[in-house]
Amino acid sequence: MEVLVAGAHGQVGQHVTELLAESDHDAYGMVRDEDQLSDIDDLGAEPVLADLTEDITHAVEDRDAIIFAAGSGGNDVWGVDRDGAINIVDAAEAEGVGRFVMLSSINADQPENSPEALREYLRAKAEADEYLRESDLTYTIVRPGPLTNEEGTGEIRTGADLDRDDVEIPREDVARTLVAALETENTYGKTFELAAGDESIDRALEDPLGD
Ligand SMILES: NC(=O)c1ccc[n+]([C@@H]2O[C@H](COP(=O)([O-])OP(=O)(O)OC[C@H]3O[C@@H](n4cnc5c(N)ncnc54)[C@H](OP(=O)(O)O)[C@@H]3O)[C@@H](O)[C@H]2O)c1
Repeated sequence: MEVLVAGAHGQVGQHVTELLAESDHDAYGMVRDEDQLSDIDDLGAEPVLADLTEDITHAVEDRDAIIFAAGSGGNDVWGVDRDGAINIVDAAEAEGVGRFVMLSSINADQPENSPEALREYLRAKAEADEYLRESDLTYTIVRPGPLTNEEGTGEIRTGADLDRDDVEIPREDVARTLVAALETENTYGKTFELAAGDESIDRALEDPLGD
């Protein structure tokens, strides 16, 4: 598949971009900063200059799938985490992109479980997720716990409502899960939580809502 990574220069996005470039897929890495284009090239993907808050038709046309790994970092949650996501969902629908894998967050539907400082961001993510679910796209929504920069283990835990103890996960394993989900039909049309665990990614994605 021809896969566009939104947020390709982010910490998760760079892992995703590199994994896609090493796979049988054709990888396209979207960034909004010209200075980052050569880094995407170095990761082995085709760089695309586009901003989620502007017209991004050129970035999504002719693509088969999108992995959304972008985020505002708390700076503009409504403009980027919600409306930027909605913008790319609309563009994907208009251009006939069939598949969309969304990097969301644990507690998006339960902001009261997170510290006050995160709640507005979580509400914005929840609204973006809901918009994606209402679209015609074949979606998968992945909601990890807090991300770490530990080396990935390739082993995860997924479920509809994970036990909140110890839900951290390395960014590398989040990226592997997003890429593995692309063509795993058992994840289509599903929203699930993700944490480090003891099951292989392929096995966990056979039943992502199990616990
Ligand atoms: N941190 C956590 O513990 C946690 C937990 C659960 C879920 N998440 C989700 O995971 C996402 C990815 O995490 P991360 O650590 O990889 O984040 P990150 O390093 O901050 O990466 C986010 C990327 O999004 C890009 N971006 C921001 N606004 C954009 C725009 N308007 N157009 C195009 N690209 C834009 C940024 O580009 P620039 O370099 O141009 O700013 C950056 O490359 C987070 O955004 C969050 O939604 C995070």
